[in-house]
Amino acid sequence: MVGVGVVTDAQRGPTPAGEVDTGPVETFVPVQDAYADFARYAAGESPCLEAWARAVAADPEIQGWIATLPLIKQQPNLVFAAARWHDVPAPGPYGALRDALLGDDAAGGAIRATIMARSTQTNEVGRLATLAPVLGLIQQSSGRPLALVEAGASAGLCLFPDRWRYRWHHEGGTESRPGPAGRVLDCAVTGNPPLPTSAVEVAWRAGIDLNPLDVRDPDAMAWLAGLVWPEQDDRRTRLAQAIGIARDDPPYLVRGDLLEELPDLVHEAAGHGHPVVFHSAVAAYLEPEDRGRFHALMSRLVADGACSWISNEGPQVLPGITATGPVLPAGSALFVLGLDGRAVAWTHGHGRSLTWLSPDLAGRVLHRQG
Ligand SMILES: C[S@@+](CC[C@H](N)C(=O)[O-])C[C@H]1O[C@@H](n2cnc3c(N)ncnc32)[C@H](O)[C@@H]1O
Repeated sequence: MVGVGVVTDAQRGPTPAGEVDTGPVETFVPVQDAYADFARYAAGESPCLEAWARAVAADPEIQGWIATLPLIKQQPNLVFAAARWHDVPAPGPYGALRDALLGDDAAGGAIRATIMARSTQTNEVGRLATLAPVLGLIQQSSGRPLALVEAGASAGLCLFPDRWRYRWHHEGGTESRPGPAGRVLDCAVTGNPPLPTSAVEVAWRAGIDLNPLDVRDPDAMAWLAGLVWPEQDDRRTRLAQAIGIARDDPPYLVRGDLLEELPDLVHEAAGHGHPVVFHSAVAAYLEPEDRGRFHALMSRLVADGACSWISNEGPQVLPGITATGPVLPAGSALFVLGLDGRAVAWTHGHGRSLTWLSPDLAGRVLHRQG
């Protein structure tokens, strides 16, 4: 992890071409690049998927099979999860994956059908540990409980930041926030982020998704579990806990396109608390021109004072936000966490770490919003 000091103007973007990876969930890049990127993203976390992705990136025949899928369906985690869904062992040898994919069409096309029918809706509550400091800042500056609107909510599991205990680990030790025993989100932090001193107060919560998943649907929840990387039992445990939380209080999820549904939902949220739109690993699924429309829509809502905006996306997904921060370390697979369109931190894709970019930011945000 690279520690970062105060962001100076000289460090700010635009990001030089080639210095930043396409990011862990970039969706519109050639097969070989997408799998090479994914191998970096999975490195150190899933030896199996790292090895599979590296092997695909070096295997033109399998790339050819993947290239027959629609672009949005070529994502490594979707292809791998579909193969595992149909009993390709993981952890397991690349040869078994290769044989299953190359033999799939002749065997009836079950893996292809799963890829076409489902999508990477990974719902990772670990990300909340990286969002919570920003949620705390917003609550402090608005002086109101928060009304959360999650764009691309999947099953809505990230709509419950108030139901977890947090443990932030830094150079000086560990800071905990009280919460239910056994439901803990751990995160390694650097750069002195403004760790909240109390739990965030959520007055209302809602999400939008093209395909909202129902936490009471065992098949949909099994698919979510299948998207968790093979060696990551901690994430599987956390997912089961998050599903339990949401089953006790099923979230309000609107089916639709975030570009169309957001303004009305923000308006509705304002009746309940300070509206906060947030999204994590979502904008990569928008067509490139729609990402620009989304950035413009959110900038307009923020400028109008309609809501606060937390973004948590791969560095090339919303480049206008990435460019407000320092250049990411070469080869990193981190997300850029933005507040109201400005980069405030780099985050691990599943929330394991947070690198705060500007020690003086807390004061500036409070001054600007207060
Ligand atoms: C990788 S999941 C991330 C889920 C959640 N944000 C999280 O961090 O755990 C991306 C989600 O975005 C949704 N999505 C993609 N494009 C969308 C759009 N245009 N409008 C609404 N939802 C969308 C997908 O259906 C999927 O559930």
